[in-house]
Amino acid sequence: MSGGSHTAVLLEQAVEGLKVRGDGCYVDCTFGRGGHSRLILARLGRAGRLLALDRDPQAVAAGGGIDDRRFRILHGRFSRLAELAGEAGVPAADGILLDLGMSSPQLDDPARGFSFRFDAPLDMRMDPGAGITAAEWLARAPEREIREVIRNYGEERFAKSIAAAIVAARARGPVSTTRQLAALVAKAVPAREPQQDPATRTFQAIRIHINQELEELSLVLPQCIDLLAPAGRLVVVSFHSLEDRIVKRFLRCHAAGDRLPPRLPVRAQDIASPRLKLIGRAQRPGASEIAANPRARSAVMRVAERIGAAPADPAGAAG
Ligand SMILES: C[S@@+](CC[C@H](N)C(=O)[O-])C[C@H]1O[C@@H](n2cnc3c(N)ncnc32)[C@H](O)[C@@H]1O
Repeated sequence: MSGGSHTAVLLEQAVEGLKVRGDGCYVDCTFGRGGHSRLILARLGRAGRLLALDRDPQAVAAGGGIDDRRFRILHGRFSRLAELAGEAGVPAADGILLDLGMSSPQLDDPARGFSFRFDAPLDMRMDPGAGITAAEWLARAPEREIREVIRNYGEERFAKSIAAAIVAARARGPVSTTRQLAALVAKAVPAREPQQDPATRTFQAIRIHINQELEELSLVLPQCIDLLAPAGRLVVVSFHSLEDRIVKRFLRCHAAGDRLPPRLPVRAQDIASPRLKLIGRAQRPGASEIAANPRARSAVMRVAERIGAAPADPAGAAG
C-alpha cells in the first residue's frame, strides 16, 4: 500500500533554496510523497532531471505514479547516495534536498508501529524489509544500551527508570506492541510535560536508533558535497535538535573561513580550501504554516552552496 498524503514542510522555501535551473539535475534524497519533488519538476525545463530516493518501499511505490521522463526514483538509504547516483547516471547534481524524519503516512499507518496513538506491533522500521524491529531490539538489548538510547536520542530525563521498567517487563513476557511500551513509560515517568504524551521522547529515541537516523545523516552530508556541482545547492530540513546540530556543525566546518584557528599564525598551504558557502540563516516555518500543519513546528532549514572546485593545475592539464 502506498496511500496516505503528506503535507510538505517549508515547501516553497526549500525549493527556492535549491535555486532550480531549468536544465539542472537535482536529487531529492527523501521523496516521501513527493511534495518537494513535484515542485522541483514544475520548475525544471525539458532538459532538467530529478533523481529521488527513499528507503521506504511505500514511498517508492508512490513515486512510481509520477509519469515523467525527467524523473526517476530508486529505493535505498541516502547514506548510499554516491552509489545510487552512479547507478542512475548522475555524475553531479545542481541541488540536493534532505527533508529528514518521517512522513505522515508512516506516522499515521498503525501497522508501521511508529505511534503510541494506535495499538500495533512495535516495528518502527522505515524500510520494513531491512534490519530488526523495535520489539526485537527491546527483547535483546542490554539495559545500559536501552538507557543510553533513550537518554541520548530522546533527551529523556527518566531514561534510567524507563529502561529498568522495560527490562523488568520483558522478564515477564515480550514487549511487542506500541500500547505496551507506552503504558510502561507512562508508569515509569513521574512528571508529565504539559501537552506531551510521556511516551513521546522514548518513541522518538527508539525510532532514531532502529533507523540509525543520525548515522545516516552523518554519512550522507560529505557525499552531498562531493556530488554537488560548483554553485550547486544543499538544502536540509531537520525536525529535532540532534539532527540540526549535526547539520549546523557540518556546514560550518566546511564553510569559508570557519576552520581557521583564531589568533594563530597559519600558513597559506595549511588552510583547507572551504567547499561550501552558507546561504542565509536557519529558516523556520511561519505561524500560519504551523497552524495549518502542526508537524512543521520543529522544522529548521539550512542552505549551503558548493564553492567551485579549485581550477585545474595548468601543469597537470598540459600533461
Ligand atoms: C519528511 S518525509 C519527506 C517528505 C517529502 N519531502 C514530501 O514532500 O512528501 C521523509 C522521508 O524520508 C525517508 N527517509 C528517512 N531517512 C531516510 C534515509 N536514510 N534514506 C532514504 N530515505 C529516508 C522516509 O522514509 C520518508 O519517506
